[in-house]
Amino acid sequence: MPITSYRYRLPTRDATDLFGRALGSLLKPGDLVALSGDLGSGKTALSRAIGAGLGVVDPISSPTYTLIQEYGGRTPMFHFDPYRLDNPEEICDLGLYEYLEAGGVTVIEWADRVMPLLPEDRIEAEIEIDFMCSGKGDYEADAPRLITISARGPRSAAILEALARHSPLNVYHYSE
Ligand SMILES: Nc1ncnc2c1ncn2[C@@H]1O[C@H](COP(=O)(O)OP(=O)(O)O)[C@@H](O)[C@H]1O
Ligand SMILES: [Mg+2]
Repeated sequence: MPITSYRYRLPTRDATDLFGRALGSLLKPGDLVALSGDLGSGKTALSRAIGAGLGVVDPISSPTYTLIQEYGGRTPMFHFDPYRLDNPEEICDLGLYEYLEAGGVTVIEWADRVMPLLPEDRIEAEIEIDFMCSGKGDYEADAPRLITISARGPRSAAILEALARHSPLNVYHYSE
């Protein structure tokens, strides 16, 4: 059970960018963000915004083919994508636990594939495309996103509470 969860509505790409930057600016070395959501939901877009909030200057691309990508910045970012792994445990061979101790923030896309291997005190974020409210009904690219962001330990809960206090976006605090 998460300690705390919030749900935000991200009506546009700009809102996702704002949200990710705000989250990134609150993260410290050792923090872990576990992203899930369908293909095209916005995991890489959100990772990019988190990186911007961390002060990463190099362009952030999807790690689908490289599996892990390192970025320098005010706080370094380690960006994993276990989508193509045959076996979830292979994320350990990629150095997951070493990266978690390496003085940066770790962001993992398709994290649902490796969740049992992750440390408990993590931020989980699940992105959904809000088809119902797209206004067009048929084309997902510009539909609003809904993000459920949950903390599973005291450190991550403190981050999410700070984010909710400062967020310019609509926030629904739905469990404690
Ligand atoms: N509100 C939004 N938030 C995030 N992405 C959005 C939003 N609206 C449209 N998009 C678009 O959806 C796509 C998300 O792609 P991407 O981040 O690569 O998804 P994933 O990594 O989850 O497969 C991008 O083309 C992005 O511009
Ligand atoms: Mg992606």
